[in-house]
Amino acid sequence: MKVTVVGAGAVGASCAEYIAIKDFASEVVLLDIKEGFAEGKAMDLMQTASLNGFDTKIIGSTNDYSKTAGSDICVITSGIPRKPGMTRDELIGINAGIVKTVSSSLIQHSPDTIIIVVSNPMDTMTYLVHQSTNLPKHKIIGMGGALDSARFKYRLAEALECPISDVDGMVIGGHSDKGMVPLINKATRNGVPVSEFLSAERMEEVVQATKVGGATLTGLLGTSAWYAPGAAVSGLVQAIACDQKKMFPCSTLLDGEFGLSDLCIGVPVILGKNGIEKIVEISLTDAEKAKMQESAEGVKTTNGLLA
Ligand code: LAC
Repeated sequence: MKVTVVGAGAVGASCAEYIAIKDFASEVVLLDIKEGFAEGKAMDLMQTASLNGFDTKIIGSTNDYSKTAGSDICVITSGIPRKPGMTRDELIGINAGIVKTVSSSLIQHSPDTIIIVVSNPMDTMTYLVHQSTNLPKHKIIGMGGALDSARFKYRLAEALECPISDVDGMVIGGHSDKGMVPLINKATRNGVPVSEFLSAERMEEVVQATKVGGATLTGLLGTSAWYAPGAAVSGLVQAIACDQKKMFPCSTLLDGEFGLSDLCIGVPVILGKNGIEKIVEISLTDAEKAKMQESAEGVKTTNGLLA
């Protein structure tokens, strides 16, 4: 199993690190345009191998896509991250050009690859990869829901004052402050709806804190977050590499599912060796459906900004 991660910035390097630590891939290629940067990160990470106990080989490359040839999975993290006060949509001009070039270079060397898009605005960048490549739709996956759901679980555990392993919950919709739809009424603590433990006000606070999860970190860090994004990507990569058939909310091209079409947005999917093996059409309440509709309109507005 060969995995390429494009962009050796904080998110890309964290992806490579978590994939290597989980030790299911034979090779991870880390590629960046900045001279020597990916090679340096790869070497530093390789020097953790004996300490962290992994055998995955990490190779760095300065923009030489021939090193990525034959990759089973490619992750695109390249582009500029947001600064405090910026929305993910404001990155579209620069990142669209980068994502288009990167995806075509990747496919040139790995025509059968599965692509995971992380660059923001993520749902629109995922849609762009569909528009600008010939990859079948099950091989193009946007990473947002896995991260947003992890942030949701963090906030749920905080509100419930319980360990994170006690809680479960999922965030669907667009990967944006306004577009996320945390499914609070389906969230549970050990199978018991969280409404048994939390007031409606507290549940709404959890929802709001989840939706601005990325912005809160951007405010604290001065740039966007990397540990949880990297860990979320590694979870998707592992589910595909190990054919786990796990369910994650991912951004995928919809064609009538959930009453939506011609956009990529976060919905539950099954991930296995073929990429997105199934879109899981869970039933939504009228309120959840209305939120999804509103979220889809936001994503479509951003898609309209693509040149
Ligand atoms: C975030 C970025 C990766 O939510 O979109 O942290």
